[in-house]
Amino acid sequence: MHSTPALAFDVYGTLVDPIGISAQLARHLPGEVAGRVAEVWRRKQLEITFRLTAMGRYEDFEWCTRRALTYALAHAGHELPASIQDSLIARYDHLDPFPDAAPGLARLRTEGYLLAAFSNGTPAMLAAVLAATGLREHFDEVISVDEVRVFKPSPLTYHHAARRLDRAPSAVRLISSNPFDIIGAEAAGLRAAWIDRTGGAFEADGTPPDVVVTTLTDLADRLGRGAG
Ligand code: LAC
Repeated sequence: MHSTPALAFDVYGTLVDPIGISAQLARHLPGEVAGRVAEVWRRKQLEITFRLTAMGRYEDFEWCTRRALTYALAHAGHELPASIQDSLIARYDHLDPFPDAAPGLARLRTEGYLLAAFSNGTPAMLAAVLAATGLREHFDEVISVDEVRVFKPSPLTYHHAARRLDRAPSAVRLISSNPFDIIGAEAAGLRAAWIDRTGGAFEADGTPPDVVVTTLTDLADRLGRGAG
């Protein structure tokens, strides 16, 4: 087992922007509705993963994403034909990367960290979005929770990531913009860093980790020279 630190990066919200899809939604919906649908879509997508996990059930992240889109449209009082919903789901494989993602990852790699993408996304979704954004080349490993058929924040997912990286949980730091992901990782014995992309409040059921930054380039400054 290796003791050099590894960094495991959440994908949606951390490396790529799921809310940016409001630009595609705005082609089919009034502008103010599109932004709201994008927010509800993302929140419902995560809520479905939490509920499936609480029920001890599993459907993959593409299924959750599809169901959440249908819900978000209905919630806003809109319907879109199946062909347009299909094109929006396909667009999920081409979400825009945050501008600091590639430079931050490149710098962290030169600092000697092992880097992994670690996400609720299915292997196919992750392969597609990491290829489309050009981010795949920065990662040594891509780990999908689909390999253990349960979603974050189940401890099984974080322990699986540590196992895949051949490290003890304490030698892996989870990098995420999603506070629930940070809380889950720390509860499972990993370290964590919060990328606070919205200037938002941390979740009420936990406290921020020892590393809090707003971009991945700031993270590279913070974790430079193997600081862990
Ligand atoms: C992920 C979700 C949590 O990428 O954003 O795992």
